[in-house]
Amino acid sequence: MHENTLHIDGLSKRYGDTVALDSMSFSVAPGEIYGFVGSNGAGKTTTMRIALGVLQADSGEVRVGSRIVDDALRRSFGYMPEERGLYPKQKVAEQLNYFAQLHGLDAATARRNTAELLERLGLSDRAKDKLQELSLGNQQRVQLAAALVFDPQVLILDEPFSGLDPVAVEVMAESLRERAERGIPVVFSSHQLDLVQRLCDRVGIVKSGRMVAEGSVDELRRSGPVLYEITTPATSDWWEPLEGVDLVERHGDTVVLSIGDAPAEGYDDQPLLKAALAAGPVHHFGRRLPSLTELFQEVVSQ
Ligand SMILES: Nc1ncnc2c1ncn2[C@@H]1O[C@H](COP(=O)(O)OP(=O)(O)OP(=O)(O)O)[C@@H](O)[C@H]1O
Ligand SMILES: [Mg+2]
Repeated sequence: MHENTLHIDGLSKRYGDTVALDSMSFSVAPGEIYGFVGSNGAGKTTTMRIALGVLQADSGEVRVGSRIVDDALRRSFGYMPEERGLYPKQKVAEQLNYFAQLHGLDAATARRNTAELLERLGLSDRAKDKLQELSLGNQQRVQLAAALVFDPQVLILDEPFSGLDPVAVEVMAESLRERAERGIPVVFSSHQLDLVQRLCDRVGIVKSGRMVAEGSVDELRRSGPVLYEITTPATSDWWEPLEGVDLVERHGDTVVLSIGDAPAEGYDDQPLLKAALAAGPVHHFGRRLPSLTELFQEVVSQ
């Protein structure tokens, strides 16, 4: 493991009788974008708060390489907390400058980074406005700027994409990718699984405070159910006699079927095709991987 890998190691946290985290563990290597996903209340924010030192774990630890994260090390973390954290009444550029200096940059570098980021995020003309005068999405862009302005060595972002328009989503995604390419670990939580699928190198799915599935997007999708997408005007449930074959969804003439205990590789799909052809003409027949959204539903419903 690399000396700059972020390790979340065995975090547990209770609130009274509620178990918010139950031995939560994962690691994010430098250069990697890690998607942290799970239903509402699964424990994502709690994990990130502990990593950022605003909340104490009952047990477990957060490290960068072999170093336990303390306040000094944490100052190198760029973050976007769930409750956000900037001053509504302060001017955009002023607070970014201030924030950068708080994290150790000299005044000139702070100003330069602020100007560069505002330009990049399409906010140069808002630099002198108070934060509260910006729309919600633009405030979110300023939050991102605050996370990036001091050249962080780790990025921890709680739902950075929520509320952004499609253009801002791309700017955000590009910024995260660029930071990862510079060689820092990047972890963010999100409910936008299409985005997670597209952007992340690895994904962790949490449920009730525990990691329940983890891997590269490709690994996870390959571990999911074997799915076939078939287009035929036949309206009967022609697959019913076949063992283990179930309908997942139907839209128009297309059905998606899952194959119960098919081997991940080498499933003989010809009987399925024959059954379809016996019911009507077949315009499309093909296997496809489950999307992260489909996989998520399968994993969290178990
Ligand atoms: N201050 C608190 N007091 C009591 N329970 C809390 C507190 N903060 C969080 N919890 C509980 O801890 C669990 C995990 O919550 P957490 O906010 O980490 O979930 P999350 O994965 O971030 O969810 P969401 O997707 O809704 O943001 C939930 O059961 C929540 O109710
Ligand atoms: Mg949360």
